[in-house]
Formats: sequence, C-alpha cells, structure tokens
Amino acid sequence: MKPLLTPSILAANFAHLEEDIRAAERGGSDYFHLDIMDGHFVPNISFGPWVAKQMKKITDRPLDAHLMITNPREYIPKFIDAGVELIYPHIEGSYDIYRTVQMIVDHGGRAGITLNPATPVESVEGVIDLIDSVLIMSVCPGFGGQQFIPSSTSKITKLRTLLDELKPSVRIAVDGGVTLENIGNLRKAGADFFIAGSAVFKALDIEQRVRDLKKAME
Ligand code: DX5
Ligand code: ZN
Repeated sequence: MKPLLTPSILAANFAHLEEDIRAAERGGSDYFHLDIMDGHFVPNISFGPWVAKQMKKITDRPLDAHLMITNPREYIPKFIDAGVELIYPHIEGSYDIYRTVQMIVDHGGRAGITLNPATPVESVEGVIDLIDSVLIMSVCPGFGGQQFIPSSTSKITKLRTLLDELKPSVRIAVDGGVTLENIGNLRKAGADFFIAGSAVFKALDIEQRVRDLKKAME
C-alpha cells in the first residue's frame, strides 16, 4: 500500500487557511484531515461540517473527518453531504458502534474506526466487515502538538499482523505526534496514512516540510 500524507488542518492558521492548504498541496499532500471536537467527548472544541464544506471549495484532495464527538450519528450525514470521503468515529464512542459505522457505509461514505491509546487492537474485529481503515491514536485525542506515545509503534505492528489475518485490504492511519524524526519508523511498523498537524503547519516552510515528510515516509 502506498503511504499517504494527511495534514491535519487543526494546526493550520485559520486567518489564512487557503494559503496554508495551497502550500501543503504544492508539497504533495495526499489528503486533508479534519479533527471534529465537541467539548464533551474530548476537552476541546474545533469546527463542524461547515468548515468541511469550505475545505471542499479550497481543495480537490480527499478529506477525512475524525469524529471526537459523543453523538456521531447526528453528524455523519452532514459530513458526507459536505463532501467528506472517509469518516473515523471512535470505537470507544458507544455500545452500538457497529450501527454508527454502518451508517457511514449506508450514506455512501468510506468507514474507518479510531482506537485510543489504551484500546486494544483486537477490538477492531467487531466492525471489520465494514471498515477500510483503522486510525491508531498515538496521543490522547483533544489537542494538537502533543508528544508521541512510544508504545504506539509496536501497536501498529500488532494491528498489521491482525489485519493481515482478518482483512488485508484494511489500511492503518497514525495520528498524533507524527514528526520528521519518527515517520520513517512508523512506515516500517506498518502505517499507511500519516496524519500530521504541527509537523506540517507549524513549519516555517509548509511546502518544503510536506516534501520532507513524504520523502521520509517512503
Ligand atoms: C488530536 C488530533 C490530531 C492532531 C494531530 O486529537 O486527532 O489529528 O491534529 O496534531 P499533531 O500532529 O500536532 O500531534
Ligand atoms: Zn485527528
């Protein structure tokens, strides 16, 4: 599977979002990642479907939405209508997460599932028939700019082995604390989607940083 770089716009400068997006595109960004936070599921509030809609006007790169919200089913149709291709609810979100993932597929989206740092990889088995990718949180969700949790690397390798048994086409995304220094290792561990906020948008030269990250992950 070809590795894909997915900048998270959470770390972008919203006063000139379009400029930041253009720079990331010029560097070769493959996707863009939207961190959706409601102040309940995580202790931070970000933005909603309206920003996804604006992003669709700015870029033709595919979008994914990482739903850190307590009531994902209320918003899934809105994100898909806004043009988001891939949706990642949290497996810890509800007792009937299967229904949530089913809703994404029924609305014509591609489904992923997100695992918090303390959630075991085996938990993906219950939704495996519906998902295209698994997002491994390598920080506790809620904020950009946090330190990468070291055990996430071996967790990715463990998940890859499990997915090879269950459904080899499923891709692994890693999110949180991804840097120029660890991205190569994460590729070796088995990750396919590299979600990076600060590493991309806090760089002095965003375009060059995307190029460097892509080079380091390949
Ligand atoms: C954290 C988010 C991440 C965040 C990553 O809750 O899920 O996507 O934007 O930011 P960095 O790359 O700065 O850790
Ligand atoms: Zn995220």
